Amino acid sequence: MIVLVTGATGFIGRILSARLAASGHSLRVLSRNSNVTHSASGLPAGAQVFSWNPALPAPIAALRGADAVIHLAGENIGAWPWTAARKRLILESRVQGTRSLVEGLRAAADGAGDGLPSVFVSASAVGYYGDGGEETLAETHEPGTGFLAEVCVAWEREIFRARELGIRAVAIRNGLVLGKGGALQKLLPAFRLGGGAVLGSGRQWWSWIHVEDVAGLFARALDDNALAGPVNGCAPQPVRQREFAVTLAKAVRRPLLLRVPGMALRLALGEMAGTLLEGQKTDAGKAEKGYPFRYGNLDAALADILGSFSRPRSGFPPRWRRT
Ligand SMILES: NC(=O)c1ccc[n+]([C@@H]2O[C@H](COP(=O)([O-])OP(=O)(O)OC[C@H]3O[C@@H](n4cnc5c(N)ncnc54)[C@H](OP(=O)(O)O)[C@@H]3O)[C@@H](O)[C@H]2O)c1
Repeated sequence: MIVLVTGATGFIGRILSARLAASGHSLRVLSRNSNVTHSASGLPAGAQVFSWNPALPAPIAALRGADAVIHLAGENIGAWPWTAARKRLILESRVQGTRSLVEGLRAAADGAGDGLPSVFVSASAVGYYGDGGEETLAETHEPGTGFLAEVCVAWEREIFRARELGIRAVAIRNGLVLGKGGALQKLLPAFRLGGGAVLGSGRQWWSWIHVEDVAGLFARALDDNALAGPVNGCAPQPVRQREFAVTLAKAVRRPLLLRVPGMALRLALGEMAGTLLEGQKTDAGKAEKGYPFRYGNLDAALADILGSFSRPRSGFPPRWRRT
């Protein structure tokens, strides 16, 4: 397949691109940075890079002849603080970026193209459900309230416009993606110093997924016609935040002694504290029907990821290895 990927230079995109290339797919990459180099960005050697302005319809040359589109690009939600300008960027980068792709596809369909891609697979997030409390959240559940829920609703509205073109559209509602990068990379230094903490009551549910399984699920969605519409991109065993913290502390062999009251987090982080103090307990049933998860429980996922932090890279002198 010829697969067009946005956000291929990011945390999930690098792993997914490598996986797709290793499976024999040809990659086209849309990046805002036209000077992106394969070595610096971690893109597979054969990937063809196209320059992209997400405020404009995506270039037809990149879309024409592609069999599938994978859309991961968007302003990082984990960067603090959430000023009004950053919140606007978080929303607009997703709404405009998705619209850019669908409008590009519409233009490609109007021209004398070779046919449109058969599938459009985009990231979304479990933030769609807002604070889910104790409910088990299947994809049919209505959206929640709050900023991230509003972002996800607007984002998915644009994603599912691809259906108007007869394209199968899939929105993978990612949970907390665990790997070498993303949120775990930010949490690890504190946990390694024994400064890991229970946040608020610690009872909020965190739905998580190993980055290799996210990549596997996106890859599966390319050729499994039964995967359509929203799909929870979360491992089958969500955990409460307290259990997450206990498991991570154990994995780095440090005690878990601290608790940060919710009020203190809200004072320090403002609205962004909701991403830590609220949670979702998602149902992975729909994803599991199409994709066999490799990492179903958190212990195994963390053991694999933490092991990869200390695995030697080829050509790296042993004394420079991180432990
Ligand atoms: N990581 C998680 O735990 C998680 C959880 C839930 C949902 N998700 C969603 O999954 C997708 C991929 O996540 P990720 O962690 O891999 O993302 P990431 O590393 O933060 O970024 C992905 C890519 O998005 C592009 N990008 C960054 N800022 C942008 C902006 N303002 N406008 C347009 N494009 C921009 C960049 O690509 P170029 O510079 O090449 O254009 C970047 O490499 C995101 O949409 C994210 O919201 C992730």
